[in-house]
Amino acid sequence: MSEQEDLLPRHIAIIMDGNGRWAKQRHQPRFMGHRAGVKAVENIVKHCIDRGISVLSLFAFSSENWRRPTKEVKLLMELFSLALKRQAKRLHENNIKLNIIGDISRFSASLQKQIQDAEQLTINNTGLTVNIAANYGGRWDITNSVRQLAEQVKSGALQPEDITEDSISAGLTTAKIIEPDLFIRTGGEQRISNFLLWQLAYTEFFFADTLWPDFNSDELDSAITSFCQRERRFGKTSEQIQGQEDA
Ligand code: IPE
Ligand code: IPE
Ligand code: MG
Repeated sequence: MSEQEDLLPRHIAIIMDGNGRWAKQRHQPRFMGHRAGVKAVENIVKHCIDRGISVLSLFAFSSENWRRPTKEVKLLMELFSLALKRQAKRLHENNIKLNIIGDISRFSASLQKQIQDAEQLTINNTGLTVNIAANYGGRWDITNSVRQLAEQVKSGALQPEDITEDSISAGLTTAKIIEPDLFIRTGGEQRISNFLLWQLAYTEFFFADTLWPDFNSDELDSAITSFCQRERRFGKTSEQIQGQEDA
């Protein structure tokens, strides 16, 4: 193994999919799947700490998920609020820094307040960073960043030729956070569904058939093992990466 292959992923991004099907298999309402999904989140967060992962980004609610039945959306919001209420203190005790990424302005005032309080509580923590993507869309994220740059150009503070990949990255919700090394999607679908479009440009992908509520520490270890066996070339040749040829 080369030195690079020994490295664990620092940032893992997960699309937690399959809650509805998990419930359906048990002849239960979809909501029960979402509830079981929250339990899986708790386990995976713990396991990421044990494995020394720096950042975990979880897709909890997409900007497209508003299209679901009103009742399911309402229950998801209530579950989010309940999970924050129950977990904020525990996250803090475990030195976890919580960030919510996404357009939270569409959430109720009380949920927005809960989000801000939980972020504030954990802001100085130095352990695992957990990003929860809620009302998040990758296109929304990029559009926002570009709009901010356009405002600066309009005011004369920035020249169009000074817009760089770095300046676009700096305006994203994940600015200052290393890009994901490993992307996991559970539930068998093989698509990005408008998750971190810009940030996933060179991320390694891992798709699991397991439905999210059943995704456990062994499954996460399988994904990490798969990641460790890959050669990330970033455009170079394998020989360059192996050090057999000049850089
Ligand atoms: C993912 O599970 C959770 C959310 C999108 C909130 P789904 O609810 O999409 O589960 P399936 O895909 O219907 O099984
Ligand atoms: C993506 O899952 C969003 C989340 C897991 C929160 P979906 O189940 O909504 O994705 P699509 O619409 O089937 O691609
Ligand atoms: Mg789904």
